[in-house]
Amino acid sequence: MSFPVHRPRRLRRSAALRAAIRETRLDASQLVAPLFVHMSAARGPIASMPGHARLSPEQAAQECVELSGLGVRSVLLFGIPDEKDARGDAAADPAGPVPAAIRAIKRRVPDLLVWADVCLCEYTSHGHCGLLDGQRVDNDRTLPVLARAAVAYAEAGADVVAPSDMMDGRVSAIRATLDAAGHHETAIVSYAVKYASGFYGPFRDAAGSAPQFGDRRSYQMDPPNVREALREARADVEEGADMIIVKPALPYLDVVRAVRDEVDVPVVAYQVSGEYAMAHAAAERGWIDLDRVMDEMTIGCRRAGADLVITYFARVLAERMQPAVAAAAVLA
Ligand code: PBG
Repeated sequence: MSFPVHRPRRLRRSAALRAAIRETRLDASQLVAPLFVHMSAARGPIASMPGHARLSPEQAAQECVELSGLGVRSVLLFGIPDEKDARGDAAADPAGPVPAAIRAIKRRVPDLLVWADVCLCEYTSHGHCGLLDGQRVDNDRTLPVLARAAVAYAEAGADVVAPSDMMDGRVSAIRATLDAAGHHETAIVSYAVKYASGFYGPFRDAAGSAPQFGDRRSYQMDPPNVREALREARADVEEGADMIIVKPALPYLDVVRAVRDEVDVPVVAYQVSGEYAMAHAAAERGWIDLDRVMDEMTIGCRRAGADLVITYFARVLAERMQPAVAAAAVLA
């Protein structure tokens, strides 16, 4: 039976009808807001990421007070150290920007969930995500350094550590080291499925973390692969990951869906810096409507199966979800 019995337009007639039958919803508690922290008091604007800046620990804590007031429950911290070296030692420095920001945030908003990214690329002079052996990234020697960084963040009060380095075996190394230090309750949210992507450019500007030679293709995943993503996801769950991240989001929504169907843990889509920058750049030219596009990009992650979305739009989305504003919004 079809037309004229079926008239799908009947249910699209009004905002109330559309809201009533909406299949997928997004609320502020499903958003994770990334923040860049450094030890300087000067806000460092990031040209390719409008609305974002490198923040001091106190500025980050103030941002968290505001995010929390808007209903956002989680932030993800990236640190930019004063000095970088070949070993990335600053990643585990308890006086470094990430532990300092965690402490400042926990003083002001103890209930906010603080996620700390665990990787070496922001801390190494060569910009790779692990220790080098000649031109090669040495997997096994990198593991204890990552685990030490995770413990430093847990000790400062992080609720979640999020390894993004793509070394094999880092989830079990981090879990064992956290447990040995008494941090059984610190969750591991693993970037199990992270592709070698052109969409990370603005992040690397923000963190000064572009590799000084070569690229990350020997550790991050090859974009055409999806079976391999499932294998990575299963392996990380077996090693003890509490949630799994798929990254980037928009070009990999099929992977988000496949991972959602494969594992039982919560799945997180990471809408990365290039996705954010691309939408802003087109909107600046008047080519797209930024509000509508950010709604579609984010609800698309949820529709694909993501439980949570890490997005640089978190603050603006949460502002637009406030009741007075939402009445006029595209998805309302
Ligand atoms: C660190 C890390 C990166 C991102 C998150 N963690 C950069 C990279 O792998 O080069 C990218 C995030 C983004 O682009 O928003 N390894």
